[in-house]
Amino acid sequence: MTAVITIDGPVSSGKGTVARRVAGALGWHLLDSGALYRLLGLHARNCGVALDDEPALVALARELPVRFREAQGEMVILLQDQDVSDILRTEEVGELASRVAVLQPVRDALMARQKAFAEPPGLVADGRDMGTVVFTGAPLKIYLTASAEERARRRYNQLKDKGFGANLAALVEDIRARDDRDINRPVAPLRPADDAVQIDSTDMSVDDVVNRILDEAHQRQLA
Ligand code: C5P
Repeated sequence: MTAVITIDGPVSSGKGTVARRVAGALGWHLLDSGALYRLLGLHARNCGVALDDEPALVALARELPVRFREAQGEMVILLQDQDVSDILRTEEVGELASRVAVLQPVRDALMARQKAFAEPPGLVADGRDMGTVVFTGAPLKIYLTASAEERARRRYNQLKDKGFGANLAALVEDIRARDDRDINRPVAPLRPADDAVQIDSTDMSVDDVVNRILDEAHQRQLA
């Protein structure tokens, strides 16, 4: 069986960056599961499918016309042969994703597609339920978090770097509200797997977190 490292955690905990770096260091494949929910939300909107039309969403999820391609070290995501890598990261598409993500049949329909990413030599999978639902047998599960204030500060800096204005206090409130929704939703709620290694990155650099995870992987003889 292909080895899998799962990295779950709340919004803006740095999962995406850390997962990419760990996968790069190990030479393993990467699954950004949030991108699949974002792709489905975007595809539904493009096809005029309502975000509560479960049967139609399930049909779209099974047939998502998506391709992942690596170009100059960057992941390019194509939906119906169109590059959607940038639009996928917008708040608007994040909102579409979070609406389709609460539907259990949709989650079930995306399950096989997520599992198919587990190919040799290994997979690093990031999301909300990678360790608790999708890859329950993974030999290394990470639950990555940081204080709401620190996560808001990181998001604030990201937005500023992109030239967008932002209000730090509003971002803290927004992150608290999203945590509340993710943790208390009835379907695949965000929680650490019982066997997860919990890492609080509030006072850690990205390098510190990546090295900590690689140490855990080496201790378990995964790499
Ligand atoms: O991680 P990202 O922000 O890209 O996720 C987009 C949305 O998809 C989030 O609202 C999250 O709740 C949902 N999601 C999920 N399960 C995952 C990954 C993401 O429900 N494994």
